Amino acid sequence: RCSVSSTRIGHEQIRLASGGANRGITISSLKEADQLAFILGFGGYVPDRIMTNDDWAELVDTDDEWITARTGIKERRFAADDQSTLDLAAHAAEKAMEDAGLTAAEIDEIIVATDTPEAYTPDTASFLQHRLGCREVPAYDLGGSGCAGFVQALDVARARMLLQPKRILIVGVELISRLMSWKDRSFCVLFGDAAGAVVLGPEDGRAELLDVVAGTDGSKTEILTLKTGGTRYPFNAESLASGAYQHLDMDGRRVFREAVHRMSTAVEDLLENTQRTIDEVALVIPHQANKRIIDAVGHKLAIPEERVYINVQDYGNTGSATVPFALWEAKETGRIRPGDLVAVTAFGAGFHWAAAAIQF
Ligand code: UT7
Repeated sequence: RCSVSSTRIGHEQIRLASGGANRGITISSLKEADQLAFILGFGGYVPDRIMTNDDWAELVDTDDEWITARTGIKERRFAADDQSTLDLAAHAAEKAMEDAGLTAAEIDEIIVATDTPEAYTPDTASFLQHRLGCREVPAYDLGGSGCAGFVQALDVARARMLLQPKRILIVGVELISRLMSWKDRSFCVLFGDAAGAVVLGPEDGRAELLDVVAGTDGSKTEILTLKTGGTRYPFNAESLASGAYQHLDMDGRRVFREAVHRMSTAVEDLLENTQRTIDEVALVIPHQANKRIIDAVGHKLAIPEERVYINVQDYGNTGSATVPFALWEAKETGRIRPGDLVAVTAFGAGFHWAAAAIQF
């Protein structure tokens, strides 16, 4: 295991680890016990338009049987033509602020995790700050880390709160249907559009962020990459003609293996850091890319199926939105109850992974 960072706010120690969860530098008593990170509110949004597997079968050479057997996905939601990433993000953010009982004026920082931003420049967070009517607070995107972005943002936000207790709005959002190729059956059937959000704050809220672990293995950039558009492979007439700018290079089987390994190991690291056992975890919420990946993570963690959250059948892979949307949905539908320990875990292009322990 490598590159594990672990920072426990308000508790005895902070580990700055590289090379293993238990081999880091320990700095004691940096913060007093009252400076904790709580999730104060949750929000989620999916567009109304439903795209079923049969709908896809009319457009590309696929069928419901293949998609269901290989991925578990039955349908996904796609944004309306007049919606953009900002619209999805704003819906989820407004719900999270309302759930937290906070107005936009009370938000001190904004982080948006997305790989399908409102514009190439500036970032989605700039648009969102203005749309929500927030003060002139720091706002920035975490982009390019695929589906791990939201959980990485939890890690960043928690570290920011170490310096100064504040209320941080974090949104995970993707509007991938607008940017992907609708002709490439090997990945168009996998994705959907959605947004999820949380508000973090220092007040005693309904869910304490106990710990976050995160890591990166940059030797595997090639297994999941949309190359075109950067300086290495600039967007040009040739990439436009070939469609390369919409083509996700994905070694599906390697991504699958890495995803299972990294998401389950990250949860094990969390349990070690927080001195909990898997039996104490009421619900694991893994990134929703593929039901087979989720089942394999549950199997590796030796946790019964009913304690693993799955909604990939309804929404497909919504990138950075899967984890915050699932958190919101699980809470709304009573799958998470007061007192529950919840572990969220995600992976993404990079290859990145991140996981968080949340005590409700
Ligand atoms: O954020 C993105 C994260 N990405 C992932 O999480 C992907 C992880 N990997 C996976 O989920 C799986 O690898 C896939 C679902 C992408 C693919 O499943 P697989 O069992 O690994 O299938 P495969 O790639 O080995 O493809 C098997 C066959 C191929 O045909 P041949 O070469 O065996 O004749 C594909 O051309 O399935 C074919 N195929 C399809 N057939 C019907 C690929 N896509 C489709 C499709 N419909 N949509």
